[in-house]
Amino acid sequence: MSAKDVKENVRKEKTKTVEIKLIPVYVMGKRYLVSETLTIMKALEYAGYRFIRGCGCRGGICGACATVYRKPGDYHLRVGLACQTVVEPDMYLTQIPFYPANRARYDFEKLTSSPEEIFKLYPEVFRCLACNSCTKVCPMDVPVMDVISAIKQGDIARAAALSFSCIQCGLCVSRCMGELPQYHIFQLARRIYGGKIVPKAQHLAEAVEAVKSGRYEEELEKLKKSDLKQLAEIYEAREIEPEMAGEDWRPSKA
Ligand code: SF4
Ligand code: SF4
Ligand code: FES
Repeated sequence: MSAKDVKENVRKEKTKTVEIKLIPVYVMGKRYLVSETLTIMKALEYAGYRFIRGCGCRGGICGACATVYRKPGDYHLRVGLACQTVVEPDMYLTQIPFYPANRARYDFEKLTSSPEEIFKLYPEVFRCLACNSCTKVCPMDVPVMDVISAIKQGDIARAAALSFSCIQCGLCVSRCMGELPQYHIFQLARRIYGGKIVPKAQHLAEAVEAVKSGRYEEELEKLKKSDLKQLAEIYEAREIEPEMAGEDWRPSKA
């Protein structure tokens, strides 16, 4: 292909008109036409809604954008994350910006690694009826009911591993017949596991000691006194971990 042809192709690509198909969706009962390629979150914004709450990372991580919807002729009540779910024709939807859930107060330092700690703080775990509605509703495929079972069996390590992907969206709470605040319970299980069961990592302990000993103070003071241009230069000149670096790699100044 000649250079002229390449140029012509680039020009055509740039001027190509993309046809956008609009589809109807219903937000809290009101009909809007939105592009079929949008996520629910973007469709709501396209329709004129402005998010002040119920929107955070836009990347399926923060759990702020739980959405409930139904499709015509389908009795299922569906759920999803507004930032991840693409609109469908005639979708009836609404956002659940926050679903209240009881969160126990505790002094983590005073807790032990015993499952009894969870039982004391969240006795409602034993109200679970094993209906599995929570698992069915979870947009992150957390086996919610199994996590509750693991906790009831005292297996905190299993509960922590199984609930690792929980983003605290609250959808499981919205469906729970036993009125459990699952995501708070899971968070406590993971905290106990990470803070009191897993052996401490030696390299982390060393790094914490280095911070406490003031090893980085001089460097930090220098950074605090730098202007934007100097900061940019320092950033550009920073030592980057090489690709495929082994676990024992450390920056030369560490
Ligand atoms: S476990 Fe519950 S709070 Fe966590 S992501 Fe699943 S539905 Fe959301
Ligand atoms: S929805 Fe509630 S009651 Fe049902 S299995 Fe899950 S935790 Fe148990
Ligand atoms: S905005 Fe964070 S998960 Fe959707």
